[in-house]
Amino acid sequence: TIHPIILCGGSGTRLWPLSRKSYPKQFVPLIGDSSLLQDCAERMQGPKDAPYAKPLILTNDAFRFVVPEQLGAIGIDPGPILIEPEGRNTAPAVLAAALYLAASNPDAIMLVAPSDHVIPDKAAFHQAVTEGARAISDRGDLVTFGITPDRPETGYGYLKLSHAPDTGNTAIALDRFVEKPDLQNAQAMIADGSYLWNSGIFLFAVKDIIAAFKEHASALLDPVGKAVREAKADLGFLRLDPQAWGTVEDISIDYAVMEKARNLSVVPYASGWSDVGSWSAVQELSNPDADGVATTGQVTTIDCRNVLVRSETPTQEVVAMGLENMIAVAMPDAVLVASMDKAQDVKQAVAALKAKG
Ligand code: GDD
Ligand code: MG
Repeated sequence: TIHPIILCGGSGTRLWPLSRKSYPKQFVPLIGDSSLLQDCAERMQGPKDAPYAKPLILTNDAFRFVVPEQLGAIGIDPGPILIEPEGRNTAPAVLAAALYLAASNPDAIMLVAPSDHVIPDKAAFHQAVTEGARAISDRGDLVTFGITPDRPETGYGYLKLSHAPDTGNTAIALDRFVEKPDLQNAQAMIADGSYLWNSGIFLFAVKDIIAAFKEHASALLDPVGKAVREAKADLGFLRLDPQAWGTVEDISIDYAVMEKARNLSVVPYASGWSDVGSWSAVQELSNPDADGVATTGQVTTIDCRNVLVRSETPTQEVVAMGLENMIAVAMPDAVLVASMDKAQDVKQAVAALKAKG
C-alpha cells in the first residue's frame, strides 16, 4: 500500500485577499465548491480497486481544527495528524513523517503530496504513482513527478532527464535536480529542452528517504527524531516536541535532499497540474469563456476581456464593465483590484499592508 503524506503547513500570500496567513489557500474553495485540501484528500484515497492507506497529515497548531473538519465534511477519516510547533519547511516535515512511519513499517512507500495543488485527472495521477512505485521496487529510487515546462519559471525545481522519454510514463533516471534557479539559468534549461518542472510531489520508500537524509542532511536527524519520539498525543493529534523542534533547521526537501541525491527518477506527468501560484492561474483554471472572462459568485460582467472577477460574499453583487486584463476579488473586509500583469506581485500588496500595521 501507498501511504499518503499531506503537507498542509504553507501560507500562500499571492492569492490575497482570499488566502490569508490565518486561512491559507489550501482551505479555500478556489476552483469549484471544495477546498484544495479536500480535493487532495479525495485524490489520496487512491484508486477504488487499490485504495491507499489513510493519509498522514502534517500541519501546524493554527490549522489543527480546520483540517479534520474539512475532511470530515467529505466523509474522509484522516490518519494521524502531526502538529509542527512551528513551520520549519518541508524537509523536517517529510523526515518527521518518515520516522513516524519507520517505527511500524520501514518498507512502507510514502507519497508526499502538497495540499494546495490542482490535479484534475485522478485516474491519470494514480496511474503515474503506480509507475513510480515500480521504480522504487526496481532501484530504490526517490521518485519525482515531472511537468512539461512552458516558461522559465524561477519558483520551481527543474529535473534534468538522463534520456528522452519513451512512450508511456515510465520512470526515467534523473541527471540532476535544480531548485529555484535564477532567471538566466531557468531560460538556459528551457532552451536546453531536456528538463521538466518538479511538481513537488514525491514517492519513496521510508527507508530510502531516511537513508538520503542521513547522507545529505544528517543534522536534521537527531532533533527531528527527538521531536517524533517525544511527541505527545493531544485530543487526537500528535504534537511534535516543541523543544526539539525549536532547534530544527528551516529548509525545504528540495534543497536538503533532492539537489544532492543521486538515486532520483521522474515519472513525466502530462495530464494537468497546477500549483495555483497566482490569480492568473486561478483564472485559467476557472473555465473562462471565449473572451477570457472567469467569474465566481454574484458577478455580472459587461464588455470585459481576460478578467477574473470574484465576489466571495453571497449577498454582495459585483459588476465589472469594460475591463481588460484585470483581477478583481471582493471580500467583506478587503478588495483586490489589480492588473493581470501584476498577478505575481500580489505578495507585495500583503507586505505593504503588513508594513502599514
Ligand atoms: N506541514 C508543512 N510544514 N507543510 C509545509 C511547510 C511546513 O513547514 N512548508 C510548506 N509546506 C507545504 C505547503 O503548504 C505546500 O503544500 C508544500 O508544502 C510545498 O511548499 P511550498 O512552500 O509551496 O514550496 P514551493 O512551491 O516554493 O516549491 C516546491 O513546489 C514546487 C511546485 O509547486 C518545490 O518542491 C519545487 O521544486 C516545486 O517546483
Ligand atoms: Mg508551492
